[in-house]
Amino acid sequence: MKKFSILIAGGGSTFTPGIVLMLLDNLDKFPIRKLKLYDIDKERQDIIAGACEVILREKAPEIEFLATTDPEEAFTDVDFVMAHIRVGKYAMRELDEKIPLKYGVVGQETCGPGGIAYGMRSIGGVLELIDYMEKYSPNAWMLNYSNPAAIVAEATRRLRPHSKVLNICDMPVAIEERMARILGLKSRKEMTVRYYGLNHFGWWTDIRDKEGNDLMPKLKEHVAKYGYLVNDGGDNQHVDASWQDTFLKARDVYALDPDTLPNTYLKYYLFPDEVVAHSNPNYTRANEVMDGREKFVFTECKKVIENQSTEGCALHIDEHASYIVDLARAIAYNTHERMLLIVENKGAISNFDPTAMVEIPCIVGSNGPEPLSIGEIPQFQKGLMEQQVSVEKLVVEAWITRSYQKLWQAITLSKTVPSAKVAKQILDDLIEANKGYWPELH
Ligand code: NAD
Ligand code: G6P
Ligand code: MN
Repeated sequence: MKKFSILIAGGGSTFTPGIVLMLLDNLDKFPIRKLKLYDIDKERQDIIAGACEVILREKAPEIEFLATTDPEEAFTDVDFVMAHIRVGKYAMRELDEKIPLKYGVVGQETCGPGGIAYGMRSIGGVLELIDYMEKYSPNAWMLNYSNPAAIVAEATRRLRPHSKVLNICDMPVAIEERMARILGLKSRKEMTVRYYGLNHFGWWTDIRDKEGNDLMPKLKEHVAKYGYLVNDGGDNQHVDASWQDTFLKARDVYALDPDTLPNTYLKYYLFPDEVVAHSNPNYTRANEVMDGREKFVFTECKKVIENQSTEGCALHIDEHASYIVDLARAIAYNTHERMLLIVENKGAISNFDPTAMVEIPCIVGSNGPEPLSIGEIPQFQKGLMEQQVSVEKLVVEAWITRSYQKLWQAITLSKTVPSAKVAKQILDDLIEANKGYWPELH
């Protein structure tokens, strides 16, 4: 069996240890000869890398390991780049969330003005990774889950249309794991789903078991009462109380269209007033993550480095991240796995912009994804998606043309924003906060 060389870009991410442990747990399915970490923040990455080195020494000493901030060293001799960078890190996420909230608008990592601000930072960072990959390992594939994935995907479509980048999100995977638990199934893989939308903006229309039995009625019964809350914990990533609120809120989102089951992120667009009312403008999700996941992961990694052993270490396998291995295997072994990916519509949703980047089921093989046909979507979803895709396209247009006007239009068009006046106030604050990260607008 061929062994692969993997580069994790954004090596200093809080998710890196969980993904490395997951990769090591799947070596029988996806053998690895070399594992590298790449980041632009050496100090941050060194802590994660120090722990990963010990983990690898204990569990798979045969794998060559390297952490670097040098693009040539990182991107040379690589088969797959797994990219999860956060341009501006949590300090900028905090501002993305707090600036809109100052004006009574949703403050969220990927939705509304915060997501737009993050998009304006991410585009350049992700394009840089693609260019390094194409320069040093032209045959490699990039599996990108750097956010905001919708805007990043549109930017790659516009600016790197021929590059081998697959944009993917874990939210549908995490919700499907919850669905499987609701149904008493062993795995989400026992379900075949139909789903369509934009990233963080979609709906399930059909869910069946392998015999073709319709599982939607039982799921709907649960979601109508409890949203996607399950009493046995769900996945180990979305555990904080604020995530439980989000899973419960899916109940109200579902009530609006009982023909489908919604993605949790729709709450930010459909109930923005309630979201704002429940937000603390001085302590947002970024603060929760810095005080929670970031502190936990870095404390554990430092312990591993100090002890030069993982004994007693609480870092855990990010089991639900195994969808990344499924995707890499689909490319490497032509498995034709059916997965939800963010791809150019090209008529798959027949009554929607063919150039939109949509999240739909695809069959993935060694020459990439083949999107499945969705057909016509209803007026409600179409209307929402047309508005949101226009926001995403205007952001990318603004980034390319350095246009203040387009970005003002993008923020104004977001369903989370009440007026052009508020949009302008938020935009002017975001420009100030993002100096050095955004292109200069005129
Ligand atoms: P994090 O801040 O802990 O890690 C991100 C790392 O990226 C940092 O170490 C930072 O230094 C590095 N980085 C920033 N700019 C870079 C650049 N230009 N080149 C190389 N490295 C760079 O963030 P996190 O919370 O662990 O999340 C990482 C990313 O994964 C985020 O984009 C997050 O939104 C995304 N994410 C996506 C999904 C999904 O479903 N698509 C799920 C979870 C997380
Ligand atoms: C989900 C989404 C990701 C997002 C993450 C945020 O997994 O699919 O795109 O980055 O949630 O989680 P956090 O714990 O950082 O708020
Ligand atoms: Mn996501």
